[in-house]
Amino acid sequence: MRCSLVALVSLALGLAASASPTAFPWTLHEKRSSIPVGWSPTHKLDSTATIPLRFALTQPNIQDIEKHLYDVSHPDSPNYGNHWTAGQVAATFAPSPETIKAVLDWLLSSGVEPARVKLSPTRGWIDVSSNVKEAESLLRTNYNVYTHDSGKEHVACESYHLPAHVAPHVDFVTPTIHFDAKLSKRSNPQIVPKPGNAFGPKTTGGTIGTILKELENCHTTITPDCLRALYGVAYVPVAGDKNSYGVVEYTPQAYLQSDLDMFAKEFNTGLEGKPPKVVSILGGVVQTVNQSFGYNAESDLDIQYASAILTAKQNVTVYQVGDLAQGASFNNFLDALDGTYCTFEGGDDPWYDYIYPDTSPGGWTGPQECGTVKPANVISSSYGYNEADLSAKYATRQCVEYGKLGLMGVTVISGTGDSGVEGNGDMCLNPDGSQSATGTGFNPTFPGVCPFVTAVGATQIRPNASILEPEIACQDHIYSGGGFSNYFAIPDYQKAAVTGYLKNYTPNYPAGTFNTSGSRAYPDLSANGAHYAVAIDGQMTPAFGTSASAPVVGAILALVNDARIALGKKPIGFINPTIYSSKFTKAFHDITNGTNPGCGTMGFNSTKGWDPVTGLGTPNFPVLLAEWLTLA
Ligand SMILES: *[C@@H]1O[C@H](CO)[C@@H](O)[C@H](O)[C@H]1NC(C)=O
Ligand SMILES: *[C@@H]1O[C@H](CO)[C@@H](O)[C@H](O)[C@H]1NC(C)=O
Ligand SMILES: *[C@@H]1O[C@H](CO)[C@@H](O)[C@H](O)[C@H]1NC(C)=O
Ligand SMILES: *[C@@H]1O[C@H](CO)[C@@H](O)[C@H](O)[C@H]1NC(C)=O
Ligand SMILES: *[C@@H]1O[C@H](CO)[C@@H](O)[C@H](O)[C@H]1NC(C)=O
Ligand SMILES: *[C@@H]1O[C@H](CO)[C@@H](O)[C@H](O)[C@H]1NC(C)=O
Repeated sequence: MRCSLVALVSLALGLAASASPTAFPWTLHEKRSSIPVGWSPTHKLDSTATIPLRFALTQPNIQDIEKHLYDVSHPDSPNYGNHWTAGQVAATFAPSPETIKAVLDWLLSSGVEPARVKLSPTRGWIDVSSNVKEAESLLRTNYNVYTHDSGKEHVACESYHLPAHVAPHVDFVTPTIHFDAKLSKRSNPQIVPKPGNAFGPKTTGGTIGTILKELENCHTTITPDCLRALYGVAYVPVAGDKNSYGVVEYTPQAYLQSDLDMFAKEFNTGLEGKPPKVVSILGGVVQTVNQSFGYNAESDLDIQYASAILTAKQNVTVYQVGDLAQGASFNNFLDALDGTYCTFEGGDDPWYDYIYPDTSPGGWTGPQECGTVKPANVISSSYGYNEADLSAKYATRQCVEYGKLGLMGVTVISGTGDSGVEGNGDMCLNPDGSQSATGTGFNPTFPGVCPFVTAVGATQIRPNASILEPEIACQDHIYSGGGFSNYFAIPDYQKAAVTGYLKNYTPNYPAGTFNTSGSRAYPDLSANGAHYAVAIDGQMTPAFGTSASAPVVGAILALVNDARIALGKKPIGFINPTIYSSKFTKAFHDITNGTNPGCGTMGFNSTKGWDPVTGLGTPNFPVLLAEWLTLA
């Protein structure tokens, strides 16, 4: 049951009558310094063309989220593992009635009819079904259609304004200066690098004829047994459906069951004919119409290695996000994990069906009833943007959502990309913040730079070396993404580690090459990302990338959760304060050889201790497990 905005509307209109809507001062809210590379303004939209405006409302108490996260995630905290419910998260961070009212009053007094205004169930967003003419007047801006070199079009503006009294209640508005709210569809990930794509996997192009399964061959072909041997993973899950692990895939990228079966057969995983558990979000479908490396590699890789490491004793969940028509963004996925999901599952369209407040008997009166789909305990994603693709406000808002997942006990794993210190598409930063192939500034990766995400880089076995020798930073086909954020300050948990690195090993690059002010540094840890044998489109294909490292680290952490859950303990949740703590120094194989070049430099060196190439190192599963079992 939904009801309309009646009560608030009359209040709002009452206010409007006494205020002159044009009299208040306006402020510039966000502005782009440059148009992203590859895009140019091509034409105006018809003034009656529809624009679905979304206002991200500011959230109270958000400045304390790091403190709250430490409280439940720091190994020395008495509250370690006492994760929050979705309801607690919503009650703490849901925008206040004052905030909602300030934005609504302004919209309604500006002539927006109540029926076109919806508040999301978590109260985080106000959606307005608008058109170009109205949106331009509401935001004092000009919309254009921008066309990418690839032919893709996007509606955006280069700056926008809000009334000064509304601005403090709004983080940002979309679509405006953000070119990246949607992950782009793509036909070929190798040759059309675009912001928001999967990082890869990359391939050598050939296929693997015969898979040599002996561990002596891991330097040329990584198999599940190689990874088990490298990281000491000898563990069979026992917690069953009490535990969960999810990988995120964005339509139209999809796995092929025939590929999963081929892999299961080759490596005798016992998973032949067993599909993963697919959770469809916003119309997500596992499409099989188009098949190619670009369509299938990421999903096939993620699912094959996640399930092989977890064994048949633990299901893998696939979050298939976005429909075929338009795809989806990270924010769509994050929305689905909180309150908007339940409306969707109920068959309603979350963008149009939910109206606030629902004052009908038994209607929704608070956030507690939403978020009924519990996110998996560990979620791995191999998709990303360049931080510079996004505005600081947009990136910060999304980062906080990852923090909320951490509060709820979810571990969020993200690959750091395969371009070393360069961004997706081998872009570097120019002094004005724009990106180009000739820039000289390092170009950090989002969401790996978000301090509430666990960022995973890539390593490899040294050429011709055995699995007993220390790995090196990946130098084969790809370089591990790593460096320093330009948006996020350094979180406490990594201060000592990063300060140590900077003190002893800061490379002598010209000022402005990377952020030396003490900002969030990444990756946090790493795992092998070279020469994976992956069944893709019916062929065993070599794959490379942090795209491989991330789901493997996620699976290893899921095994730790399994052991904890079996003992009646809570999942490990947000792991960063733990893995940087002194208890865990022996829980990683330190990587001390290899670099992540880019932007005309050698990038950073892998060094003793944490470094911006391989982080703390690769997992030492027996130690990780033992240490985590000592925690509450
Ligand atoms: C499949 O490829 C065709 C041709 O490139 C394209 O028109 C269509 O949209 C694609 N379908 C999906 C599901 O990606
Ligand atoms: C995996 O999911 C299937 C289908 O829901 C279920 O039958 C099976 O018991 C699950 N396996 C485990 C180990 O939880
Ligand atoms: C690895 O071994 C092969 C075969 O012995 C040899 O041809 C190749 O040069 C070696 N590569 C390196 C980097 O040592
Ligand atoms: C460096 O990072 C900090 C965040 O810690 C940020 O405030 C600052 O603007 C960044 N500097 C540059 C030049 O981007
Ligand atoms: C990496 O280490 C080598 C050997 O110690 C040194 O020559 C080089 O300058 C270092 N590079 C950077 C970027 O720190
Ligand atoms: C790092 O690894 C490379 C590749 O195996 C090797 O040539 C080099 O000697 C190693 N450097 C150090 C300092 O161990």
